[in-house]
Amino acid sequence: MPRATIGVIGGSGLYRMEQMTEVEEVKVKTPFGDPSDVITIGKVAGVPMAFLPRHGRGHRINPSAIPVRANIWALKSLGVEWVISVSAVGSLREEIAPRDLVIPDQIFDRTKSRVNSFFEQGIVVHCTFADPFCPTLSKLLLETAREQGDVKVHAGGTYVCMEGPLFSTRAESNVYRKLGMDIIGMTALPEAKLAREAELCYAMIACATDYDCWHTSEESVTVEMVINNLSANIANAQHILQRVAERIPAERSHVNCDCQHALANAIMTDRAQ
Ligand code: ADE
Repeated sequence: MPRATIGVIGGSGLYRMEQMTEVEEVKVKTPFGDPSDVITIGKVAGVPMAFLPRHGRGHRINPSAIPVRANIWALKSLGVEWVISVSAVGSLREEIAPRDLVIPDQIFDRTKSRVNSFFEQGIVVHCTFADPFCPTLSKLLLETAREQGDVKVHAGGTYVCMEGPLFSTRAESNVYRKLGMDIIGMTALPEAKLAREAELCYAMIACATDYDCWHTSEESVTVEMVINNLSANIANAQHILQRVAERIPAERSHVNCDCQHALANAIMTDRAQ
């Protein structure tokens, strides 16, 4: 089985990585069923990378039905240590315009019916999750995105993860703004939580596609709007992925971040004795 330390989970609009060479498709079996699709492994800028389309090719899987445990388990089993999520989001801020990119640093959970943990049946695990994104990987993404030049990139921001699949009501959108949220999407959770439990470094390139429905002079979000604005920022995201691949440290143990030790002292069973 081919292996890669960098994994990319592509959201709406990103179903394959065009710049990948020496591509192999792998079907990974997991204790949690099938991942969203086959995983393609190949080289991007000469660096091994694994790619998984979150909604499956052809966008077949609803946000609430994404087999996230299988996806994270499958990437981990292929040797992945760094996961870059590429996600379409709505903007809750005037200054984050459609087609801008955001490297978020916080998540607020508004999901309702998703399995949030790998651990169950008597194994109790409480991982630290105060900072849901890996600071090392986020910094690399930000620096690389800023070099892109022709795209506005926002450093940090709070991603509110809603259940979906319908978009928000205007009341909800306005409340999220009042609460200090910056962007909105449907898929960061439980992905970020499960990546932490799997001790993976996880960060996101969020592609703003719309102003949700709070803006008084812009149309409320529609699927057409999301798709039209996505093509431009997916192209930017692909360039960033290509350039960041060379910068991600080959040896994660030399990196000073806590993600890789997330389970140290987190499993409660030993302490009960
Ligand atoms: N994805 C893209 N735009 C969105 C929005 N406005 N709300 C939720 N998810 C989105």
